[in-house]
Amino acid sequence: MTARDLGLPTVIPAPGLPERVTIWEVGARDGLQNEDTVVPVEVKLEFLDRLAGAGLTTLEATSFVHPKWIPQLADAEQLLANLEQHDGVRYPVLVPNERGLDRALAAGVRHVAIFASATETFASRNLNRTLDSQMTMFEPVVTRATGEGLDVRGYVSMCFGDPWEGSVDPARVVEVGRRLLDMGCSQLSLGDTIGVATAGQVSAVLGAFADAGTPVERLAVHFHDTYGQALTNTLEALRHGVTTVDSSAGGLGGCPYAESATGNLATEDLVWLLDGLGIETGVDLDRLADTSAWMAGELGRPSPSRVVRALRG
Ligand code: HMG
Ligand code: MG
Repeated sequence: MTARDLGLPTVIPAPGLPERVTIWEVGARDGLQNEDTVVPVEVKLEFLDRLAGAGLTTLEATSFVHPKWIPQLADAEQLLANLEQHDGVRYPVLVPNERGLDRALAAGVRHVAIFASATETFASRNLNRTLDSQMTMFEPVVTRATGEGLDVRGYVSMCFGDPWEGSVDPARVVEVGRRLLDMGCSQLSLGDTIGVATAGQVSAVLGAFADAGTPVERLAVHFHDTYGQALTNTLEALRHGVTTVDSSAGGLGGCPYAESATGNLATEDLVWLLDGLGIETGVDLDRLADTSAWMAGELGRPSPSRVVRALRG
């Protein structure tokens, strides 16, 4: 019997893991920001609609960044104006600065995410700022957004390694993360932007946040799968009590300002793991795999997700 015949994993719960995990789906943003071609807005809209139909309840939709920096998401206004919002689904967007927040507010957005770097080099390459001046840029964004009743997530990139600076001290990650929480972010997403983290490092970084008094409920993990470690790292994070995991349908993704970054952890691979452990996600794996197979067709190449290939290849 093949995975395709089986369709679903055998369920055997393991002790010490959460009962439910929230999947923060980043395919439409982190995935599509990295495509060589600009995906038509109609295709993005259908993608988001199908992801909601598959049971995902947090769909990071796009970014209000400088269109010259990320031309793939230059249609953010058009996307939001035509988005058919599903009940119970939130559609966060990335905003780096006040100009981005103005655009997001004008589009009626209720959830935003700022994105900081744990390293100097990536702060410069991704945001044209220093480690400190990125904070100066974010501060008014968080103050204004929370003042308007918006929820603000804070990303920290390069938490486990940086292509220019090498390994990253967990103490530095905690310092940057704490600053974002102190500003008013409700949650931190710890990014392995280039996919180099190993399970011991995940444990070290989550342990450093725990030692600094940060409740694990405030932490999410964001793994890219460059070295094939994303699922192992996710399991390690679950063992530490993390209950929000970022992933991208079909394993789309990367970061245009970190060339060694490949796709995110594929949502299907994550759901296969979580389903097998009896952890609730509310996601229908079959409908999700259909969506990623359709998107792979739109992009003209096979999905990098092992589960999509096993089920639909
Ligand atoms: P800058 O060049 O320093 O911008 O870029 P500036 O503040 O000097 O402004 C220059 C001009 O840009 C001005 O226009 C602004 O109005 C305009 P002018 O007065 O010259 O006509 N401008 C904007 N226009 C539209 N929307 C805006 C905006 N901001 C300024 N929001 C900036 C600074 C932050 C804007 C730029 O560096 C940028 O857009 N960076 C975004 C890069 C990005 O999106 N990277 C990918 C997302 S991060 C990621 O993928 C990692 C993550 O997945 C986690 C992980 O994996 O680790 C989240
Ligand atoms: Mg990312």
